[in-house]
Amino acid sequence: MDALLINGSTKLEGEVTISGAKNAVLPILAATLLTREKCIIRRAPNLSDVSFMGQILESLGATVKMEDGVIEVQASRITPFGDYDLIRKMRGSVCILGPLLARLHKAKVSLPGGCVIGSRPIDLHLKGLEALGVKIEIDSGYVIAHARRLVGTEVFLGGRAGPTVLGTANIMMAATLAEGVTIIESAACEPEVVDLAKFLNAMGARVTGAGSPTITVTGVPELHGAEHEVIPDRVEAATFAIAAAATGGEVVIHGARPDHIHAVLDKLREAGVKVERNGPSLKVKRSGRLKPVDITTLPYSGFPTDVQAQMMVLMLLTPGISIITERIFESRFMHVSELARLGADIAIEGPSAIVKGGRPLSGAPVMASDLRASAALVIAGLVAKGKTLVKRIYHLDRGYENIDAKLRKLGARIERVEET
Ligand code: EPU
Repeated sequence: MDALLINGSTKLEGEVTISGAKNAVLPILAATLLTREKCIIRRAPNLSDVSFMGQILESLGATVKMEDGVIEVQASRITPFGDYDLIRKMRGSVCILGPLLARLHKAKVSLPGGCVIGSRPIDLHLKGLEALGVKIEIDSGYVIAHARRLVGTEVFLGGRAGPTVLGTANIMMAATLAEGVTIIESAACEPEVVDLAKFLNAMGARVTGAGSPTITVTGVPELHGAEHEVIPDRVEAATFAIAAAATGGEVVIHGARPDHIHAVLDKLREAGVKVERNGPSLKVKRSGRLKPVDITTLPYSGFPTDVQAQMMVLMLLTPGISIITERIFESRFMHVSELARLGADIAIEGPSAIVKGGRPLSGAPVMASDLRASAALVIAGLVAKGKTLVKRIYHLDRGYENIDAKLRKLGARIERVEET
């Protein structure tokens, strides 16, 4: 198993280019199941979650070729029966359900489990599919679903924590081949949903309103092959922006979509970080003293839950008290106990983390618990005095393309070592 060894106290300086978005490419790959024709996806990030989705498509009968950021999928003949163990391993694989039902009117896939950030139910996905006429049964860990036909209707997808991103993707994809019009209310407005809608429309679907809480899908008899370029990863861009600020450096981030991370940039500015936007580029620089800020994670366009852990590290460096309130996932503070090993003073009170910043951080061996927690530990390691060993970095490789190489190019002293 690999680990990252970081020699801290270095400023990040230079330029970095953002890769394609993991959370956009996963549902887009699932959408290729909607047609028997070839689809070509460009700017696909080279990540373990993406190869994993490729394997899932192959297990369903599709041919998948991945090379230099281009993925070609041809799903000429597919089966509705997914491999139990393969699908169970990755939460994002739940979005094959909508395309399988749209195209084959049946699906049998394993129920995705919970994970360290929360219980992660799929009741809203199932509610939406049932509204379209799908009969669903849960048996021996499988979701077994079938429909004689899918018929458009009105579906309300708001849940306890607001809209669901992959649930919206699933219902949108199922509705593309349904009879009549489907109106999704309380739809997720995330840029990844908009990117999926763009791809579906390129395939011949009729989707309008993506990016707003009301999405309308007018069913069509079939979809055809299409080409698509995936949007840049907003979480990766935000992670590099925070890393630049935390290390007190100056980094130019290329190929990003700054308009997708308004909430993060706004908080960075409030914290005293200098952020300049120049088209798809961003310059982030920390000049003066940092100021405490409070954040609450919310659905888009609020502050993203996927950036909460990284922001916590910046707060740790800020003298005074900052408060993070996590409103999307109930247990997304796994990084707190690991950050404490580096000297962090953070108290959890219900859904909030009270961060007492300003204490020096010093390197230590830490364990990554999930993808974004790992990114936070890496940023903390870059700032801390001495050496930090971040173990279990397979989490990091799920969602950040070449993160160690990109950081090295910015001057970080970071290397991949064998975990002992
Ligand atoms: N929820 C339900 N019922 C459902 C679905 C969701 O109650 O049927 C709840 C969840 O438990 C959570 C909230 O609704 O409290 C939002 O969950 P959502 O469904 O939006 O999450 P997701 O679609 O499963 C995607 C990203 C996550 C990201 C969330 C929120 C992918 C592959 N995953 O998950 O990304 O945190 O949206 O923005 O797109 C990550 O990249 O590290 C990551 C975890």
